[in-house]
Amino acid sequence: MDAIEELLRNFNVDNKSVSTPSQTEELHVKYLGRNGLVNAIMQKIKDVPADQKKLFGQKLNQLKKEIQSSLDKRHKDSLKSAGDTAHIDVTLPGQQYPKGSLHLVSYAVEEISRIFQKIGFIRMTYPEVEWEFFSFDALNMGKDEPARDEFETFFVNAPPSAQFGKMLLSMHTSSGQVREMWRLNSVPPIRMLSIGKCYRPNWDTSHTPMFHQLEILCVDKHITIANLKGTISYFVKEFFGEEREVRLRPHHFQFTEPSFEVDITCDICNGTGFVSVIPSTARNPRILRQAQDDLKVKCRVCKSGWLELAGAGMVHPNVLKAGKIDSKQYSGFAFAFGLERIMMMKEGLKLDDMRVLYNGDIRFLEQF
Ligand code: DAH
Repeated sequence: MDAIEELLRNFNVDNKSVSTPSQTEELHVKYLGRNGLVNAIMQKIKDVPADQKKLFGQKLNQLKKEIQSSLDKRHKDSLKSAGDTAHIDVTLPGQQYPKGSLHLVSYAVEEISRIFQKIGFIRMTYPEVEWEFFSFDALNMGKDEPARDEFETFFVNAPPSAQFGKMLLSMHTSSGQVREMWRLNSVPPIRMLSIGKCYRPNWDTSHTPMFHQLEILCVDKHITIANLKGTISYFVKEFFGEEREVRLRPHHFQFTEPSFEVDITCDICNGTGFVSVIPSTARNPRILRQAQDDLKVKCRVCKSGWLELAGAGMVHPNVLKAGKIDSKQYSGFAFAFGLERIMMMKEGLKLDDMRVLYNGDIRFLEQF
């Protein structure tokens, strides 16, 4: 009985000195835990004379209850004084932090790089601040070429180079072609994929002064138009889908001969150039079938079944010459397209103003 009294006294002393939830927890273990002091006294019941066992049991139970209720109260008080942060409801959903994401253009760069790297093209980047030589002269472009005009190209206000001419902001990624030939000491094979920023003084709903181009250059022995068409076709099917077809249309570029423009079938009209217009009143299946046949109108997206994709061609012998490559031994193909353009073609994004891509409005960008 004395031991019980003593335990209660000790508990009261201990109890006064605790304040935090973890100290209260420790006290709980010390007194009410399996190896705690209350259980230790409980073991002594066998030494208690039989006539006092009942009373001993009652006292002990009472002690247990008292300790338990003091600890409960202490626990609540300590939580309260620790403030609300101590009330952790682990079942609550976690806090959502705003998630960042890649820019649309970065996604496209990643995806396109993967597609070309799979067939052995090597990703290169060439200077955005470039010399006239690599942008024009090396690409077989004459001195009177309109692209050299200030209305077409941004020139940098810097002293010209005796060897390379004026300094400018690269207006196409084709300027990397001869640089790549030089980088490889003019020894093919060359498999270049260059994605870069280009600059032209245009600012309207379908042009931004900075945009991206992607340039492919392949130089080796026995390279033919078949390789060019095969490579473009492979890319188109990987990027846009198996069902898309490619065609080459004759065109003119100074740095390729022959030159082509590359078209792909339009996904809105499946390359037919026509879409069915079905009146909302045509619920009857017979009328509906008839309407599908009768009410064909020109596809508004492509008008002809084809969408323009890229400029392409077989590398001009003069370009190989500028790259110090023997055009009798080697041939090559090149093509390039606007990244923003093909990205919008893929996503079916019809932006009525291209500039939203670069004005940094997070409400637009976070949709992707
Ligand atoms: N550099 C051309 C432009 O910016 C695009 C181009 C056309 C690139 C034909 C090529 C090519 O490599 O073969 O308009």
